[in-house]
Amino acid sequence: MTATIQATRPGMTAATREITGPAGAPLVGNTLQLQRDPLGFIMRVATEYGDVARYRLGNVTFNQVSHPDGAQRILQENHHNYIKGDMFDILRQLAGDGLFTSEGDLWLRQRRLMQPAFHRRRIAGFGEVMTGRTLDMLARWDQRADTSQPLNVAEEMTALTMAIISETMFGAHLDTDTHAVSEAITLLLADINFRFQLPFYPSLRWPTLRNRRTLAAMRTVDDVVLGIIEQRRRSGEQRDDLLGMLMEMVDEETGQGMSDKQLRDEVVTIFVAGHETTAVALTWAFYLLSQNLGAEAELHAELDQVLAGRAPGAADVPNLRYTRMIIDETLRLYPPAWITNREAVAEDVVCGYRIPAGAVVAVSPYVIHHSAAWWPDPDRFDPQRFDPDTPHDRPRFAYMPFGGGPHQCIGNTFALMEAMLLLATVAQRYRLLLAPGAVVKPQPQTTLRPAGGLPMLLQSRTESQG
Ligand code: HEM
Repeated sequence: MTATIQATRPGMTAATREITGPAGAPLVGNTLQLQRDPLGFIMRVATEYGDVARYRLGNVTFNQVSHPDGAQRILQENHHNYIKGDMFDILRQLAGDGLFTSEGDLWLRQRRLMQPAFHRRRIAGFGEVMTGRTLDMLARWDQRADTSQPLNVAEEMTALTMAIISETMFGAHLDTDTHAVSEAITLLLADINFRFQLPFYPSLRWPTLRNRRTLAAMRTVDDVVLGIIEQRRRSGEQRDDLLGMLMEMVDEETGQGMSDKQLRDEVVTIFVAGHETTAVALTWAFYLLSQNLGAEAELHAELDQVLAGRAPGAADVPNLRYTRMIIDETLRLYPPAWITNREAVAEDVVCGYRIPAGAVVAVSPYVIHHSAAWWPDPDRFDPQRFDPDTPHDRPRFAYMPFGGGPHQCIGNTFALMEAMLLLATVAQRYRLLLAPGAVVKPQPQTTLRPAGGLPMLLQSRTESQG
């Protein structure tokens, strides 16, 4: 293959480098190396083969882009050239044409329509639900406090963020219907994980037991969500939950709101995109605090000073500076959305490498966040890196837990407020200690979670202080 290809299109620089990567086995390519140690493998690809390097999984070649400038080229500057393509089909079966899976004009129209619903001012109203459900969880936790019975914090956080997204979506009443949606979505998310790992599993057209269960869960989601939409349309009832906001959005050009099908797809997308990511971030935050007692003490000092024992609310968020630094640093070390893929429509040049039309590119926040070029001593937990008063000269895309460019996470304000309120509410009352003997290892699936959960012991803070 020739290493020097002259760029032909405006905006493209000349490609001068050849994309290389680790040797793979016949047929499966690098699949076994990746499965053995996924994060170690993608880090090695970046450090040994350069800013753009390739590996092959079965018949798909991935071009891993590990430089912030490359990420910026793909996700922002030349984003029109990079589509989500077939790789998002598994998710499309569930989320249809929601914001996460749609492309082109439909995506743009929906993004413009939905953006105002995620504005800081509108989201602030959800602070009470976030803190309230956390306090409910703590009431359950109380019996476990100061015992030797561990809690699986990963599971607890997932259940908590699911309860919060259900309530912010459908309003105050968490009845059997909305509970059924939560359960069905939890099952469908596990199913998506399974299908990503076993892409050759028979498609939904085949009546296997798993497929029948998946289809039944999808029917539950459709019946309940479409039922709630229809009932709200019929009654003309207007509510200030997320669904209410989505229903009131009108396209300025056409004067039209969303169809029932589009609303259903957006509701499901928000459920899927909007709870496990935050749950995983919180899980890692508790783990990191248990390993970094200085940071934990500083967090406690801030909570005691800002909140003085009362439960936090949305208005406290700007004052919880160190809490935010902990969340930012957690999202750097363990970005829940650890990788995102795109497909090039036309040829492009990224960091001096030629990306041919049709090529798959993989941008990994995990890899970029662990690069010593932008993050000295990259594996060390150091919230100070995010001190707002300390200037830094990192490129914008050196830190990208919420992605970047026009597809950047629409829920980032929601997620940060939720993560901060939940962390503050729990840490105000408890220290979470890693259960003796627990081995914690990140497992990259659709999100980056600790393999097998996170067993922790609860210690009351009054107990530990007194
Ligand atoms: C810590 C929590 C979260 C993380 C780390 C996260 C991360 C991301 C990332 C990296 C993307 C871009 C993916 C890509 O470009 O391929 C994204 C998109 C998205 N996220 Fe989040 N997210 C979080 C929470 C949320 C929440 C709470 C919501 C909704 C309430 C949400 C809704 C969405 C949606 C709808 C998109 C698609 C946006 C578009 O393509 O226009 N996310 N998220």
